[in-house]
Amino acid sequence: MYLFIKSFGCQMNEHDSQKIASILEEEGYELTDDPEKADCIILNTCSVREKPERKVYSALGRLLPLKRKKPSLLIGVGGCVAQQVGEKLLKEAPHLDFVFGTHQIHKVGEMVRAARAGIRSLDVSMVDDVPSLHRFPTPAPGQVKAYVTIMQGCDNRCSYCIVPHVRGPERSRPPEEILQEVRQLAQAGIKEVTLLGQNVNSYGRNLPKPLTFPRLLEQLEEVEGIERIRFTTSHPKDLSVELMEAMGELKKVCEHLHLPVQSGSNRVLQAMNRGYTREEYLEKVEALRKMVPGVALTTDLIVGFPGETEEDFELTLDLLRQVRFDGMYSFKYSPRPFTSAYEMRDDVPQEVKAERLARAQALQDRITSEILEDCIGKVEEILVEGPSPRGEGQVTGRTRTNRIVHLKGEAGQLVGRMVKVRIEKSLRHSLWGERLEE
Ligand code: 5AD
Ligand code: SF4
Repeated sequence: MYLFIKSFGCQMNEHDSQKIASILEEEGYELTDDPEKADCIILNTCSVREKPERKVYSALGRLLPLKRKKPSLLIGVGGCVAQQVGEKLLKEAPHLDFVFGTHQIHKVGEMVRAARAGIRSLDVSMVDDVPSLHRFPTPAPGQVKAYVTIMQGCDNRCSYCIVPHVRGPERSRPPEEILQEVRQLAQAGIKEVTLLGQNVNSYGRNLPKPLTFPRLLEQLEEVEGIERIRFTTSHPKDLSVELMEAMGELKKVCEHLHLPVQSGSNRVLQAMNRGYTREEYLEKVEALRKMVPGVALTTDLIVGFPGETEEDFELTLDLLRQVRFDGMYSFKYSPRPFTSAYEMRDDVPQEVKAERLARAQALQDRITSEILEDCIGKVEEILVEGPSPRGEGQVTGRTRTNRIVHLKGEAGQLVGRMVKVRIEKSLRHSLWGERLEE
């Protein structure tokens, strides 16, 4: 039997999809990338941005002909929209078989079995999904890197963000369990782990025996077989000097930090309830660059937050010029229910949001190209991840700073290996390197 999963969102969402796949593997399903071939289709939804609910309904609408053609096809919706909308989904889409929230991933096996017996089901309760937290997805053959959830939920109240509502309060996983999972991954051949949490910098505060994130990194550094450690996301207000030191000192922790700034205007940052000013953000970036030479930064940006003026937006552009991020994810503000900004008037017109987004992206594209261009001539250590999408006889990997590098080589020989390359050329969003003899 074949399973098709569509992920709609962030890394946490992608990672949940992997867990769903590994649970359903035990039920006899094999992943396919062809929905036409599937016996079960799951839409794993995300409610962070832009009309997610509508997107789910239209995706469900597109599945209707498939279900008509093959009545035994099972269709499920999971993730943040399921958590938020719940029963309404089953009511509005009669061809939908089951709905499960972000806290109930482990129930998906049961639900699929029930659906096969003709029973529609729903579980969006907020009781913690302990069984799925304990589940370590098995890496696929040839897989080089894996995600590891270290915490769930978020205790911040950024005024635009629905995450605390759907994912609940912050809960950290005990360090022993994280270590066990990482050791297991290393034994299965994984070379790089990315630790996942909404705000990894506040990891461990609520554990019975509190432990800070830098100390967790120290413990993970000891795991044999793991060669690189990354993590995301970091909240600027919680980025501590200890973490910067750990990034500078620990050999396996890579020199890349995703540090969402959201806006460069203090007025907007305050309205977003971000808990830092532009100046504090810039100071932290400067300190980090001193302690972690060559560190690459990436960021998230929201344009058109309620009340954002042209001056506010220009301050954001100015911050992009000052920091010179490697890359940026940028979004037009969209009001989300259950957030405090939902009460504010969404007063920046769509055209203005679109125009600001395009200006921010054009500026960032220029900066990204300049940074990539500056890499030419440097010698970098690459972890080869797989065949290159650019074509036969080429492989792709990443620098420690998370820049993508393509090079000549056979996947069979190089995947999972560290190789030294000299960067020869910059491409649009990546680099081309020549392998150096070892
Ligand atoms: N509108 C637009 N972008 C948002 N994000 C979160 N909530 C919203 C919203 N309501 C963006 C932020 C966050 C990223 C994951 O999604 O930039 O960092
Ligand atoms: Fe949302 Fe802010 Fe928590 Fe990130 S830190 S998940 S933006 S509330």
